Formats: sequence, C-alpha cells, structure tokens
Amino acid sequence: MHHPTPISLVIFGASGDLTQRKLIPALFQLCREGLLPGNLRVIGYARRAKSDAQFRAEQRAGVVAHGRVQPLDAENWERFATQLFYHAANFDDPQGFVSLRERIEHLEVEAGVVAGHGHRLFYLATPPEAYPGIISHLGAAGLQGAALAQPGSHGWTRIVIEKPFGHDLASAEALNAHVLSIFHERQVYRIDHYLGKETVQNILAFRLGNSIFEPLWNHNYIDHVQITVAEEIGVEGRGGYYDSAGAIRDMLQNHILQVLALIAMEPPATFNAEAVRNEKVKVLQAIRTLAHESIDHLAVRGQYAGYHDESGVAPTSTTETFVALRLQIDNWRWAGVPFYLRTGKALQQRLTEVVIQFRQPPLSLFSHAEHEDHVGPADEMEPNLLVLRIQPDEAITLQIGLKPPGPEMALRPVALDFRYAAGFTDSTPEAYERLLLDVLLGDATLFIRRDEVEAAWALITPVLEHWDSPHAPVPATYPRGSWGPDAAMELLAREKRRWRRM
Ligand code: BG6
Repeated sequence: MHHPTPISLVIFGASGDLTQRKLIPALFQLCREGLLPGNLRVIGYARRAKSDAQFRAEQRAGVVAHGRVQPLDAENWERFATQLFYHAANFDDPQGFVSLRERIEHLEVEAGVVAGHGHRLFYLATPPEAYPGIISHLGAAGLQGAALAQPGSHGWTRIVIEKPFGHDLASAEALNAHVLSIFHERQVYRIDHYLGKETVQNILAFRLGNSIFEPLWNHNYIDHVQITVAEEIGVEGRGGYYDSAGAIRDMLQNHILQVLALIAMEPPATFNAEAVRNEKVKVLQAIRTLAHESIDHLAVRGQYAGYHDESGVAPTSTTETFVALRLQIDNWRWAGVPFYLRTGKALQQRLTEVVIQFRQPPLSLFSHAEHEDHVGPADEMEPNLLVLRIQPDEAITLQIGLKPPGPEMALRPVALDFRYAAGFTDSTPEAYERLLLDVLLGDATLFIRRDEVEAAWALITPVLEHWDSPHAPVPATYPRGSWGPDAAMELLAREKRRWRRM
C-alpha cells in the first residue's frame, strides 16, 4: 500500500491574519482536492498559549469566513483538523526551537518515518523583524536540513519567507546573507502572492503560447506600457505597519515589478525555475537607474485625505499611499518605450491591469468617428490597446478601430473581449493554493530568487532615499475615491499620453 510521505509544515506567526485568512484555507483546499504531495501535518508556532483544540477551532472559523469553497465541507474539515497542531513559544526563545524539533521528530516517528527521511517546511508568516532571529534559531536547533540529499536520506527542508523581504537594498542584502549562511538558496522560497494569481501566470502563457503577439512585443510596435494596481480600501487597521512601509515598498517593489518583469522579459529557453528567473533578473537589471536629480520628474507620491486619522499613523507622516513612476528599460527590445507604473490606496476602484498601447498606424487614412471618450489631437485615431485585466473581472481585451455603420469612412474604437469567467467555468484557485503546492513540490519558478529581490530593491532604493531627504517635496494630498494626485496625470500628459480611462 502507498503511504504518502509525511510533511511537517511549521507556520511561524500562526495566530496572525495571514495564517487564518490565506494559508490554512489554501492548505485545506489542496487537501480536499487530493493535491497535497504527502501526508501533511501543520504545526502552528506562535507566542500565545493555546491548545491544539483551540487552534483548530480558530482555523475552522478562518476557513468558514475566508475559504474559497463555501459552505465549509465539514466532513473533510474534521479529518484535516486532526493534522493541525499548536506549539506555543516565543520567536526568540532557543528552547522553543529545540522543543519544536522534538515535536517534529515525534510526529515523524509516529508516522513511521525513518530518521532523515521526513520533509520539513518552515513558513515565516511573522512580522519581518522576527525573521533573522527565527532563521538563526532554526539553525541552532539543527533544523536547517540539507540543501542536497545526504547519503541515505530522502528528506528535504525548505523555508518560505513572506514579504516584505527587507526594507531597502542594504537590509535585503543583509537578510539574504543571513538566510544563506544557514540555508542554501535552493531551499529558500521568497514569496510574492501576485505570482500565484492565475491571470499573472497567464501573462507568460499569453505572450509565449501564441505566435501572433511576440513579433509585436517590442519598441517597433509598442508606444508605451501602463501597469495600474489600484485599491479602493485604505490601510484597514494596518496603519502601524503601513506607515513605516508606504506604497512603494508595500506594492511597487514587489508585486508591480514582478508583473513588469513578466511583461518585459525575454522568452526563456525552457520553462524551468532557473531559466525563467534568469530572464526576469536580466530585465530588472536593465531598467535605467533613477538618478536622484531625476526623481522629482519621474516619480509622483501622494497621500489620501484623512490618512493621518488612521490608527497607527503618525500625525505628521509623509508616507505615500500612492506612487506613480516612469521607468525606462535600456535593452534592444524596449529602448525608448516608457513603462508607467502606479499604485495607491483609497482610489476610485479596485483594479489591477496592464495596458500595452501600440503605436499609431504609419499613415492615417481615416478620421475618427465622434465619440465622447476621444481625447488627444482631433486628427489622431484611438490607439490599439491590449489590456490584461489581472483583477477583478479578469479579462483580456484588444481595442481596435472599426468603421461604425453609416455613410462615413471613420474609425471608432471597439473591443475584442475575453472574460475569464465566461471562458473558463472552473473556479479559480487562490494564489496561495498554487504557491503552497509549488513549494511542497519543490518548484521555485514562481518564487523570487536572491538576485531578483536585490535587483528590485536596487532600482527603488534611490527613490526611497530621495523621499527621505529633507528637500523632497511632501506627498500631494488626493481625495479618497479619486485616481490619485494630479501630478500622476501630468506625468503622462507632458508626454502627450494619458492613463487609460476606466
Ligand atoms: C499586500 C499588501 O501585499 O497586497 C496589501 O501588503 C495589499 O497592502 C495587498 O492590500 C493586495 O493584494 P490583492 O491580492 O488583494 O491585490
């Protein structure tokens, strides 16, 4: 009979929101679908004293509230819950890690695992200040495992590190050096949940699984690229964390630059983790460095009205809740094509999308048919736009110009529209389901490599430093429910471009 290999998954920060809202619901879903590649045991590690039963009850409530499939599949939950355990200890207590090791070994023996054959996964879901200590204590307790299979052992040990990974280039480098003094890069999975989103994975499928777009995917045909990640919500009770982070660290350094890398990278020779990540790193490194004197011209920061009243926010805070940035990629494919990025909280609507705006046809034969949305020079047609809507209402739309019925030979923009909800009837897995499964299977393609995270920080650290300096202009206030400060419109308008109208 086949006995699936036991996997011990330790979640540090087990009392936190991430565990309850995302991690346990995702693991439960994978378990229900029979996708887990082993016999999973989850050990929640956190400070507060709690019994296994209390932990299970808490997590059940999380799945009831946040699970993807509703209502709760109670029968499967009861079975799954017996695999959840709780380990109360401080993150800075060496003894807590020794007893954790004993607990893991005990569970492994119970499951009949030969010593050294167990699979162990450590998930850092704590505030980032706790990462270095946890990593050191794992090493000191002998829990770092081995990067390569040891003679006679089939077990593996891996570690997942949540964002934020550092708060600037120097701290990211220091954290990398620390993790890699104990673990091997092959064991380290730096997570960015945007990479687990189906629509983000479809960027590469769309580009490289079809032959008709890639020939156009360069400066000869593309005028510019826009990436918008807009949120309607404000800081939602996370003021303490957010005020020390801001939009550029919270969203742009990670999620938006990851989306940009997928849009702009060269096709890899194969679809394996190293080949894909090599290309992502190359494109991130090809982005032109933002010189201090150019930052006021290329970057816009804003803060929503009322931000200072949020709990946990300093009354004189200059933390940005909105950022817009113009980047340039200095390589053959993208020379001269601006990439405009923007993200913000308390904006008009929740929307993540990539807009590829194509160049105008070389000769304008037709006038444009009158319609209310036309802006720009009267003799200029609406450009072709390819819109990849990441969320919500996931879709891919190609805007083309056609002649409306009537006597006049004039163009009007119309859309060729693919909607995920109509095209695919299966419900979409949560990003964390895909990512947790990949870690368990040892596939690092959708995780950030050391050089990648450092390339992203290297790019934006000059902006952070510039904004920290006493001469930097303070963020412009923008009304809640708007599209951010006027300066973000101006960033494009002065180049005779505009953000796509929603
Ligand atoms: C997180 C940020 O990484 O992403 C949050 O810390 C943000 O501030 C969230 O709200 C957005 O994720 P999603 O999946 O809702 O777009």
